[in-house]
Amino acid sequence: MDGISRRGFLKAAGGAAIATTLGADAAVATATSAPPAAAPSMAALPRRARRRYAIVGTGIRGSTQWGASVLARHGEAVELVGLCDVNRKRAEVVRGRLGVDVPIYTDLDAMLAQAKPELLTVTTVDATHADCIVRGLEAGVDVITEKPMVTDEAQCQRVLDAQRTSGRRLTVGFNYRFARKHRRIKEVLLSGVIGKVTSVDFNWYLDVNHGADYFRRWHRLRSRSGSLLVHKATHHFDLVNWWLDADPVEVSAFGNLRVYGKNGGYRHEQCRGCPHASKCPFFWDITKDRGSSELYVACEGEDGYKRDGCVFREDVDIFDTMNLAVRYSNGAQMSYSLNAAMPFEGYRLAFNGEKGRLEVRDHDRQPWTPERPTEIWLTKSFGQREAIEVENVAGGHGGGDELLLDQIFAKPDLPEWLRVPGVRDGALSCLTGIAARKSIDERRLVRIDELVRGI
Ligand SMILES: NC(=O)c1ccc[n+]([C@@H]2O[C@H](COP(=O)([O-])OP(=O)(O)OC[C@H]3O[C@@H](n4cnc5c(N)ncnc54)[C@H](O)[C@@H]3O)[C@@H](O)[C@H]2O)c1
Repeated sequence: MDGISRRGFLKAAGGAAIATTLGADAAVATATSAPPAAAPSMAALPRRARRRYAIVGTGIRGSTQWGASVLARHGEAVELVGLCDVNRKRAEVVRGRLGVDVPIYTDLDAMLAQAKPELLTVTTVDATHADCIVRGLEAGVDVITEKPMVTDEAQCQRVLDAQRTSGRRLTVGFNYRFARKHRRIKEVLLSGVIGKVTSVDFNWYLDVNHGADYFRRWHRLRSRSGSLLVHKATHHFDLVNWWLDADPVEVSAFGNLRVYGKNGGYRHEQCRGCPHASKCPFFWDITKDRGSSELYVACEGEDGYKRDGCVFREDVDIFDTMNLAVRYSNGAQMSYSLNAAMPFEGYRLAFNGEKGRLEVRDHDRQPWTPERPTEIWLTKSFGQREAIEVENVAGGHGGGDELLLDQIFAKPDLPEWLRVPGVRDGALSCLTGIAARKSIDERRLVRIDELVRGI
């Protein structure tokens, strides 16, 4: 690793050391049953030959996290050999931004055959992930996919089967697990201080900026994103599966579209040229955003994709208001909600245990300045409430973006519970959302094992 990536890595991994404010018995339990995520010895890491690396889907995520960040942090581990996007112009913009001289492809099979990558990252539109993953695996390539791994159960079966048959590694980019605050929650749960978790209360809020943005883009269509129950909530369901170390078993859900789409009193195709711009609180002038203008507006001629679409278009067919009940393999139950038109962003989370309760209030983006961005409280039954310290780590998604890359590309020696998420994690998190969608459509309780075989 070079000096920059080594420093960045040690900063991220060093943040994993436990700074516990738990009571004495909890601290003992933490020390014995939850090995701290100590910084690995970088000297012990073997130097490997650079792996041939390619990206399919050169939008914002492909070009930043899986392009610029990978090359900056782990340029010694990979050699970029190809970029692929159905929009050639966008791939060209990204090639220029990355400052690399690599071939551009609009056909994934051609890139696999000619550029011969050993590692492929999939950052395309969600509904196309499965196809790209399977093509990569079948070509004998290890694949990293952005979440969600799939958007329906048929795709899920295909990916599970292809991974098994190919024997190649499939990694799912669940950066949220690697955020310091989320590792801190896992450490407390592993310590056993609240005993077995009996239930989880989880409410996620997306605001009228970030939340609304999903309704501007391809995400507004189920056929592209699988709905926010899959596109967004796959992160949350993965966290819960990981925190509980359990699988979802059955799901019951309600969903509704109450603010965006058909609910608007006016609409236009897109914000540019909209006659309602002066009165619309969702108006966004993309031309004032140079980065988005280059990446999307300048590339519209290729595929007609409008990044600043109207949030009130009548074709919006996803929900903005969702409530679920989920039962897990360890007997725990969860009530979960996702609301996408809130005045602020963040979440409320609680683990109710046999011996106490762990509560989290996360203030991600607020119109006010919160005292602390994340508050975690532990209350032991018959005891007092105490604060659990969690440092605010700089970086993308609470530092999760950087640590995920380090886990994948530097392969440090970290505890088993911080392993890189794989195909099973990708499947189970998506299946919770897919089951919820089915439950809403068919107005019934849906079992996960009715969706796929052999998971
Ligand atoms: N983990 C995270 O925190 C996080 C954050 C943002 C986005 N993402 C994920 O990253 C992925 C990309 O999101 P984005 O915001 O960059 O979207 P985007 O629209 O900016 O980029 C998607 C790109 O894929 C291309 N594309 C679509 N279908 C393709 C196909 N079949 N073959 C090749 N190229 C294709 C599009 O032309 C576009 O350039 C999504 O799956 C999203 O869920 C994850």
